[in-house]
Amino acid sequence: MSSAIGVLGEYRALIEAGRLEADPAQTRAAERLDALWRRLRGYDPYPSKVVSHNGWLGRLLNRKRVDEAPDDYPSGLYLVGEVGHGKSMLMDLFFEQAEVKRKRRIHFHQFMQEVHARLHRVHRADMDVDPMEVIAASIAAEAALLCFDEFQVLDIGDGQILARLFEGLFSRAVVVVATSNTPPDDLLRGGTGCDLLRPFIDLLKRHLDVLVLEAARDYRRDRLRGIATWYAPANDDARKALDAIFANLAGGAIPRTEILRVFGRNLEVPIAANGVARFDFATLCARALGSGDFLAIATHFPTVLIDGIPKLLPSNFDQVRRFITLVDALYEHRVKLYASAAAPPSALYLAGEGTKLFERTLSRLEEMQSEAYATLAHLP
Ligand SMILES: Nc1ncnc2c1ncn2[C@@H]1O[C@H](COP(=O)(O)OP(=O)(O)O)[C@@H](O)[C@H]1O
Ligand SMILES: [Mg+2]
Repeated sequence: MSSAIGVLGEYRALIEAGRLEADPAQTRAAERLDALWRRLRGYDPYPSKVVSHNGWLGRLLNRKRVDEAPDDYPSGLYLVGEVGHGKSMLMDLFFEQAEVKRKRRIHFHQFMQEVHARLHRVHRADMDVDPMEVIAASIAAEAALLCFDEFQVLDIGDGQILARLFEGLFSRAVVVVATSNTPPDDLLRGGTGCDLLRPFIDLLKRHLDVLVLEAARDYRRDRLRGIATWYAPANDDARKALDAIFANLAGGAIPRTEILRVFGRNLEVPIAANGVARFDFATLCARALGSGDFLAIATHFPTVLIDGIPKLLPSNFDQVRRFITLVDALYEHRVKLYASAAAPPSALYLAGEGTKLFERTLSRLEEMQSEAYATLAHLP
């Protein structure tokens, strides 16, 4: 471990080696992470012998709370920013460099599943102790440094579990570093019971410094430069191309269903990961969705993939109108669109009501395929 050169040193070395581009905002974040790296050299608040033999659980459970965390207990970091700005890359650099014996890095979604599984086990064991305390104690025994990728709170049920769990972790001097697309104050914003999350948000802000990363651009998207955005016809090859684009942009994140709030309703996004959403044409344009829904999608996701846009017919003008509204929303928010379709944009809608209106859609779709558009920042 003594060969570690720190976060800033490693970040600079990667730039020297041509593996990364220099980015002033990332450099500032690397400096903050470097300061924490320094403070954590050899960090071991409760030495491993305490936790490795019988009785460790009892000892951890009996340990007094917050007031017993060591005086030099350092704040963690909450790294927030848009997708592709290098949050995970920086946190991983930090994690690799960290000279902490007990350390753990995990995708937050996976961590949450693990917590639910542990809760289930503890409940079944029917011990005469507070289950959240048992779980916090065992997690703290395994790691004095916890790094979470893509921290988020899906619903208030999880929020309440997390509140108790994190209180238990912080009282055991566990240092938390997290990446997220959502600032703490916006966690669960607009969701059911979001006001109940306030104490947890305050707890997070007490123990984690919030660091906003505004890198020069979306570096992940850069890797797709020169890749086609419109695939016609919508055959198997097109589907595979969109699969690859999704996997590339998701960057290892696990695809799942996301729920957006639209005027107090839920809008289900069936496949989403790391700022990318994927829909069938029919899901978007053959159902009663409107501009509010499309606006929610366009502001929430920097990238949208649409499978199977058919040739549009005047007899189905509802679909045409929705598609026009959808493209307007995506375009106005600089969303990057990848699609498979029966035809190139210019041959999608040839005759009938609204062909004049469709000219603007066509021109927007064409612009959205350009290199220049690809470099524009998403407007959330
Ligand atoms: N300064 C940079 N120069 C070149 N590539 C970068 C830079 N910063 C990040 N990347 C790359 O861009 C991609 C996205 O970075 P990542 O850390 O996953 O973003 P985030 O977690 O913010 O979504 C990764 O492949 C990463 O290695
Ligand atoms: Mg990431």
